[in-house]
Amino acid sequence: MNTYTIPFNKPYLCGKELAYITQALESGWVSGDGDFSRRCHTLLEHLLGVPRALLTTSCTHALEMSALLLDIQPGDEVIVPSFTFVSTVNAFVLRGARPVFSDIRADTLNLDETRLEQLITPRTKAIVAVHYAGVGCEMETLMSIAGRHNVPVVEDNAHGLFGKYKGRYLGTFGCLATQSFHETKNITCGEGGALLINDPQYIERAEIIREKGTNRSRFFRGQVDKYTWTDIGSSYLPSDMLAAFLYAQLEVRDHIQATRCRVWNYYNEQLQPWATEHGVTLPIVPAECEQPYHMFYLLLRSLEQRQALIAHLKAQGILSVFHYLPLHLSDMGRRFGGQSGDCPVTEDVSDRLLRLPFYNELTEEAQVRVVEAIHGFHE
Ligand SMILES: Cc1ncc(COP(=O)(O)O)c(C=O)c1O
Repeated sequence: MNTYTIPFNKPYLCGKELAYITQALESGWVSGDGDFSRRCHTLLEHLLGVPRALLTTSCTHALEMSALLLDIQPGDEVIVPSFTFVSTVNAFVLRGARPVFSDIRADTLNLDETRLEQLITPRTKAIVAVHYAGVGCEMETLMSIAGRHNVPVVEDNAHGLFGKYKGRYLGTFGCLATQSFHETKNITCGEGGALLINDPQYIERAEIIREKGTNRSRFFRGQVDKYTWTDIGSSYLPSDMLAAFLYAQLEVRDHIQATRCRVWNYYNEQLQPWATEHGVTLPIVPAECEQPYHMFYLLLRSLEQRQALIAHLKAQGILSVFHYLPLHLSDMGRRFGGQSGDCPVTEDVSDRLLRLPFYNELTEEAQVRVVEAIHGFHE
């Protein structure tokens, strides 16, 4: 039984989802790449200014497509932050890659660009940059190092749709970028994602890989008179019913972002004095980054203090969660040689980070309760 009166996340419905799903059903096209998928693609391409956006069944699958597109082969090395979701790494390991775990910066919790160059070897075939909480990595430095070594960059932008770095949308820097529309994200269709293709050389093959290794996309556009098996691939495209759901949310993106901005600012303003007094750190957003207000976290002083606060909030019906156990210390990470001490910032932050309830319909009343509960926390 759920004893939480303030959950960590609540999936959001803007109101038009069912009407659009009905429209998709009535159109007679409910498989992939129907009218709503096309509308989502065009909207993302125009808004972000990317040459091609393709909906996928998840961000995980968009990452798997990236690994296929970059022709990752057994023994290739891929540089990834240890502080990330398992899919960032697994997608490349599935192709036989060896993950090379990088530590993160202590301020943004993003891949530490000052350690990047020393991790690059002749076997490095990709660098995956995760924009944690949608706050951009130091992309200028990162892209310049990657460019100097001719290594492609994939942006795992699962958290960062509509975030910007130096005025430019996240997801538009790497040759490929991936988005998530999982129910915990700002904009959702339950499970979903997108691959953003910034380097046009990957567009045609991405369409093939996404359609079971066939040129069915060209066939649907009337560019070939039959379709056939032309490459390796899988089924990475969502049903148009999910695209209809997603389109409804994308249409009200400004409302969603404004709502989340209010939620984020409330926590930040109300908790700042308490945090300063207690040696707790709140999220840091560098001046060159515009964040998409995806999450709000606290960095407590120690693991014990973090666990005690989780328990204290739980006792008041409030669900708070930690995030990301270091991947280099997971069972799989250790199989690739990961050891304690390899990524000290990751190991430290992973013990101390706590995410507060954050969703579009989180009321101010509920936020008052969360803040008061935190103020009443005495270690
Ligand atoms: C950084 C990162 N990448 C990838 C994913 C996977 O996203 P999805 O659930 O859409 O596959 C997540 C999940 O939250 C994530 O946090």
